[in-house]
Amino acid sequence: LFFQDIKLVFEDFLRTEYSDENLLFWLACEKYKKLTKVTETTIAAKRIYTEFVQAGAPRQINIDCVTREEISKNISQPGPNCFDRAQKLIYGLMENDCYPRFLKSEIYQDLLEQAEQQ
Ligand SMILES: *[C@@H]1O[C@H](CO)[C@@H](O)[C@H](O)[C@H]1NC(C)=O
Repeated sequence: LFFQDIKLVFEDFLRTEYSDENLLFWLACEKYKKLTKVTETTIAAKRIYTEFVQAGAPRQINIDCVTREEISKNISQPGPNCFDRAQKLIYGLMENDCYPRFLKSEIYQDLLEQAEQQ
């Protein structure tokens, strides 16, 4: 089993089992990184910031204030990596919270079975 496979399956699992602001933020960042036009990037970065990052945001994610400030600086000149560290932090949170459940899930057990048959 390759780590990459597990990662993909885990992401699927999160999509089906877990739909709170952490996952939505993570997915929004994935989409954001694919944008190429400066106007699109600027708008999307602001939207992610107001929806998930700023204090009191409707879907405020669980990050420390230093990270929040860093993002607020980052989005004044939004590049493709301006949410990278925050995205990693959130991924880590989801992993801690959901990984144990994932390991017991059918989706993971199926993957193990497939791997054993190869
Ligand atoms: C801010 O942007 C830099 C460079 O674009 C990036 O490496 C860093 O991870 C970003 N900070 C956060 C909190 O995501």
